[in-house]
Amino acid sequence: MDYKVVEIADNYFLIRSPEPDFHRNTYVRIFEGNGKKINMVMDPGGRVDFQELQKIYQKLFGGVQKINLIFLTHQDPDLSGNIGTIFNLSNARLITSFDTWRLVKSYGLPVKRLIPIEKFSLKKIKLSTGHIISFLPARYCHFLGAMMYYDYEDKVLFTGDFFGGLNTKKTEGIFANNESWEGIEVFHKLYMPSELAIQRTIEGMRSFLPNLPETIAPQHGDLISGGYIEKFINKMSELKVGINALEENAQNKDQWLLAFNQFLAQLKEEISEEEYKMVSSHLILAENFTPVYEFDKAGKVVNTKVMPDIAFQVGYKICQNIAPQHIKDKLHLLAVMSLSDVGLEIPEYLMLQEDESFNADIF
Ligand SMILES: [Fe+2]
Ligand SMILES: [Fe+2]
Repeated sequence: MDYKVVEIADNYFLIRSPEPDFHRNTYVRIFEGNGKKINMVMDPGGRVDFQELQKIYQKLFGGVQKINLIFLTHQDPDLSGNIGTIFNLSNARLITSFDTWRLVKSYGLPVKRLIPIEKFSLKKIKLSTGHIISFLPARYCHFLGAMMYYDYEDKVLFTGDFFGGLNTKKTEGIFANNESWEGIEVFHKLYMPSELAIQRTIEGMRSFLPNLPETIAPQHGDLISGGYIEKFINKMSELKVGINALEENAQNKDQWLLAFNQFLAQLKEEISEEEYKMVSSHLILAENFTPVYEFDKAGKVVNTKVMPDIAFQVGYKICQNIAPQHIKDKLHLLAVMSLSDVGLEIPEYLMLQEDESFNADIF
């Protein structure tokens, strides 16, 4: 599987890892002007990405040794794993927050190569090439010192994990559509600690940026542009996440477990034993994302390691993706019935889309 490289703005490249369910996005920004050139890599992947990224850097700007700046939104290994290697192979300097530095310096990085963002956070920075850029905090989204990067020339806001998502869009391409929201919602419910953190970060974006960005470029999933910017920002402002969502859903956890077990039991009746084995093996792995369910010996789900409504949603999605074709049309009905039977509200992703709605004329 190949890494996808797309020029999202002039000299601004997205490099997307190939997994079908959860992409890692690295970005490269090449600044050129006043006879100068600065090659900046942003959130340059995990160890698993290095070999491929190295080849892509070679094509884009002549190789790892020519990296001048590394920007890290935060310290997670899916984006910081290569900085030690990049430091060894180049004279690159690292631009990040002190909070992130406190952790990534454990890679053995010398402090003289750090440019702490706190020096100029929320200020417009003029580069020697003439470009104007800024860094904005995304406090607790999902890390204390998380930072975002804004480019005034192309109006792209690189948001790190904020606005990142699992891949729930059915079509190809790098830009989000309505189907992408579901993956963003699941990711944020799991990774963002509180609604307040999200709301403050959005307020910061709205008050600091001259206008809303033209593109939101996250470290996972689809890029957001056009009408989806305002739409997804509004949805995000109202999203229940983290500990609050966990507490709220803990109250009716038993109902969700009951509904999910009922859904699986009905599915089991509709498909062969072999087919069901295949479905449950995917549920155990949860599509490489995070182990979601605890099964007992009889194959019943007895606990979920994430919020139970999210566990239901992830399970339903997995079944939609991998259940045999002949049952796919029926899955929606099975899910809705299982939830109604235990008195749970039908979530938005199970509401009928306009093109699927019943035509009243036939009654
Ligand atoms: Fe992260
Ligand atoms: Fe991440």
